[in-house]
Amino acid sequence: ARPIILDCDPGHDDAISLVLAFSSGQLNPLAVTTSAGNQTPDKTLNNALRMLTLLNRSDIPVASGAIKPLARELIIADNVHGESGLDGPQLPEPSFAALEQNALELMAEKVRQSKDPVTLIPSGPLTNIALFLANYPELHSKIERIVLMGGAAGVGNWTPAAEFNIFVDPEAADMVFKSGIPITMCGLDVTHKAQIMDEDVERIRQIPNPVAQCVAELLDFFMIYHRDPKWGFIGAPLHDPCTIAWLLKPELFSAQECWVGVETKGEYTQGMTVVDRYHLTGKPANATVLFDLDRQGFVDLIVECLTAYNQ
Ligand code: BDR
Ligand code: CA
Repeated sequence: ARPIILDCDPGHDDAISLVLAFSSGQLNPLAVTTSAGNQTPDKTLNNALRMLTLLNRSDIPVASGAIKPLARELIIADNVHGESGLDGPQLPEPSFAALEQNALELMAEKVRQSKDPVTLIPSGPLTNIALFLANYPELHSKIERIVLMGGAAGVGNWTPAAEFNIFVDPEAADMVFKSGIPITMCGLDVTHKAQIMDEDVERIRQIPNPVAQCVAELLDFFMIYHRDPKWGFIGAPLHDPCTIAWLLKPELFSAQECWVGVETKGEYTQGMTVVDRYHLTGKPANATVLFDLDRQGFVDLIVECLTAYNQ
């Protein structure tokens, strides 16, 4: 199984990502680290612990990372994810504690110990990943790939130009895209097509296990914010789970190798990912950028992963 480390800010879609990642024998999660983003760092950490408690995975080491972006104040998305960061379902209280260790030390330890190169899966702002890369250059060769949710080749969702995760910490994102490590970018171009519809939520509700029930309730809440007609959605975009879906079934996606730069200074474009889709700059590609997916195949995969919790 492919060794992975999830760096997340749960967050409804992050939580679903965790559920998918732990459902499959194809992936071997070595650790979960948490970033500040959708909510404050204390809450995203607590939410990761609550989700792993639900999944009966108190054996997984969990550690919290940076409490704020590299050079800016933290912006949170409580308008999307609520007061707790995971509003909606009744989640269990954590049955275990996070490590005293910092997220960076935990990542380093796990990457160092792993026989095979490790895939990092950030689904929040990239602060922890940037700090990890900066602090442990000797471990770069042991990172297989960074599969991240963030950015957009088209329009943003937090500003007209920027997607939330990149907007929160553009300096960190800039460091990650310049790192030379292979990157898969699951940006809004694909995640806005990864919509889960009301009938899909009902299908999930029929799966008879507590994990699927929790996911259905997470989705009930997550739907609310996305129902605003300004978005033009039918359902809700499942951003973060695209990372896991791509790892499990890349054939569901279409992708292009592109150079991606991060705007850290623009007057209107701070946090924008500039995606050179037509190779206009002549700069070598630094990311596999996902543009499209088979939505029905994506939903079927989610159902398959959730059904695995029946036993
Ligand atoms: C991203 O922002 C967060 O609200 C979601 O968890 C996702 O990672 C989408 O822009
Ligand atoms: Ca997230």
